[in-house]
Amino acid sequence: MTMARVLIGRIQGRSARIGVVGLGYAGLPLALRFAECGFAVRGFDIDAAKVDTINAGRSPVHGIADARVAAAGLTAHGDFAPARDCDAILICVPTPLGPHKEPILEPVRQTLASLAPHLRPGQAIALESTTYPGTTGDFVLPALAEAGLRVGIDAFALYSPEREDPGNPEGTFGRVPKLVAGATPACLEVGMALYGAATPHLVPMSSLAAAELTKLYENVFRAVNIGLVNEIKRISHALEIDVHEVIDAAQTKPFGFMPFRPGPGLGGHCIPVDPYYLAWKARELGVPSDFVELAGRVNDAMPSYVVGRLRDALDARGVALRGARILLLGLAYKPGVPDTRESPAIEIFRLLDEKRARVSYHDPLVPRFPATRRLHGQAPLLESQPLTPDLLAAQDAVVVITPQPGIDFALVRAHAALVVDTRGVYRDAAVRLDAGPARGSLPERLNSLPPHDDAAVLQFAGAYGPTFAGVGSLPPGGAGGSPLDGAGRLHLETPGDFPAGPYPAYHRVIQA
Ligand SMILES: NC(=O)c1ccc[n+]([C@@H]2O[C@H](COP(=O)([O-])OP(=O)(O)OC[C@H]3O[C@@H](n4cnc5c(N)ncnc54)[C@H](O)[C@@H]3O)[C@@H](O)[C@H]2O)c1
Repeated sequence: MTMARVLIGRIQGRSARIGVVGLGYAGLPLALRFAECGFAVRGFDIDAAKVDTINAGRSPVHGIADARVAAAGLTAHGDFAPARDCDAILICVPTPLGPHKEPILEPVRQTLASLAPHLRPGQAIALESTTYPGTTGDFVLPALAEAGLRVGIDAFALYSPEREDPGNPEGTFGRVPKLVAGATPACLEVGMALYGAATPHLVPMSSLAAAELTKLYENVFRAVNIGLVNEIKRISHALEIDVHEVIDAAQTKPFGFMPFRPGPGLGGHCIPVDPYYLAWKARELGVPSDFVELAGRVNDAMPSYVVGRLRDALDARGVALRGARILLLGLAYKPGVPDTRESPAIEIFRLLDEKRARVSYHDPLVPRFPATRRLHGQAPLLESQPLTPDLLAAQDAVVVITPQPGIDFALVRAHAALVVDTRGVYRDAAVRLDAGPARGSLPERLNSLPPHDDAAVLQFAGAYGPTFAGVGSLPPGGAGGSPLDGAGRLHLETPGDFPAGPYPAYHRVIQA
C-alpha cells in the first residue's frame, strides 16, 4: 500500500494526529475544528503565554470561548519535538510586510526550520498562511527534500489558504468552502481526505500556485473595491451627496454590482497587507499590478483625508487642531473584534498626535492600547475612556472610526459638539452637508431636515467665543420656518442671555 493510502486511511479512521503551527486567529479555529471532528490535535506556537493559556483550557483569541478550548482537549507546545507524532501539520503563521512593503516570510522559514528535525515519512505539510504564488514551492518543497522525503511518495505538500473572517460566525472554517491544492496528484488526494474530514465544502485546485493566487485575488478584490468606494466617497463629499444613499440605491440593481462601504482606511492583518504580496511577485515577473498599487495608495490616504476633514470642520468653528481635544471611537480595525493590527485608527491617532491634538479614545473591546514607537506626545500606554456625557462634552470633536458593538451612539450625538463620522453610523441623520458656513442652496436643504434633528445637528459660533458648544432651538415652526436669512446665517432662539444671533450654521455631524 502506498504511503498516501496509509495516511488517507488514518485520516478516515480518525487515528491521524493533526498538528497546527501558529495558534492565532487563523490557526486556533482550525485546530479546534479538527479536534471537534474527532482528531487528536497538537498546537505549536512560539508565544509561551499563548501555549500556557491553551493548556489551561482558556482561549487566547477573542471570539473563541474558553469552554470550547477546554472541551477540545488539544495540547499546545512551544517545543516542536511532538510534531514527529503528527500525521498532518498545518502552518498558520503570520506573513507580514517589511518596511518597503515586501513579503516577510521569516515566520514560515522559521517554522520549517523548527519542524525539520521532526519530519518523517508519511506526513503531510500544509501551508495555510496567505502568501505570494510560489511560496509553498519555494519553502515547503525544499524543506521536505532536505529531510530526505520524496514529495508525493513519502511526504505530501499542500497549500490550503485560511479564509477565516474573525467576528463573523458564518465566516469560519467548516462553513466557508476550502481551497485545496497539492504538489502532486497524490498530495491533492491526501489533502482532500484531510480537509474533507473537517469541512464539507472543498474546492480542489490544479496547482499550489493557483490556490496561492486565488487567495490573493480574493483579498485584492476587496482592497480594490474598498479603494474605489473610498474614492467615490471623497467625490460625493465634494458634491455634498451622501455616499451611503448612493450605495444603497446602486445595490438595488440585481446584477453586476456588489456593495462595499467606505471607511477610514484599511485595517487587519489581511486586506492592507496581502495585495502587496501580489504586487511584489508581479514586479519580480515584470508584470504591472496597477490596480493593487492604486488601491493601496487610495486606501492608505484615507486616514489623512479623515484628519483633513476634521481639521476643516474645526477650522470652520475657529478651533485649531493643535491642542484640540479629540476622542476617537473604536480603535480596532473592524467592529466586533479587539484586533488593532494595521487599524487606520492608529494612523489617525498618530497624525493627530503629530499635530499636537490631545487625543483619547473609547473602545469597549480595546481597554488598553500600547502606543507604537511612532507615537509621541502621549503616555506610552493609553486606556479606553469611559463614554460619559461629561467626556463627550469636553471634546472639540469625536471621530467615529469603528462602530464597536456597545458604543452608545445616541449618547455621542446628544453630547458631542462635533462628530466626524467615517462609517456612516449617522447616515440617517441630517448629515448631508459639508462642514462650514452655510452657502448656496443650504436653506432648502436645511428645511428638508427631519424636525427632530434640528437641535441635534446645528451648532453655532457667536459672541461667546468660536467654540461655544451650546445648541439652540429653531424658531417656532421648526425647519419649515426657514431659520436662515438670505446670507445663510442662522437665527436661533437661544437659551438665557445669549444673543439671538445671527450665527453661521454648521452641522454637528459630518461624514469623513
Ligand atoms: N486573521 C485572519 O482573519 C486571517 C484570515 C485568513 C488568512 N489569514 C492568514 O493566516 C496567517 C496567520 O494569521 P493570523 O491572523 O492567525 O495571525 P496571528 O498573529 O493571530 O497568529 C499567528 C500565530 O503564529 C505564531 N507564530 C509566529 N511565528 C511562529 C513560528 N515561527 N513558529 C510557531 N508559531 C509562530 C504567533 O505567535 C501567533 O500566535 C497569515 O498568513 C494571515 O494572512 C489570517
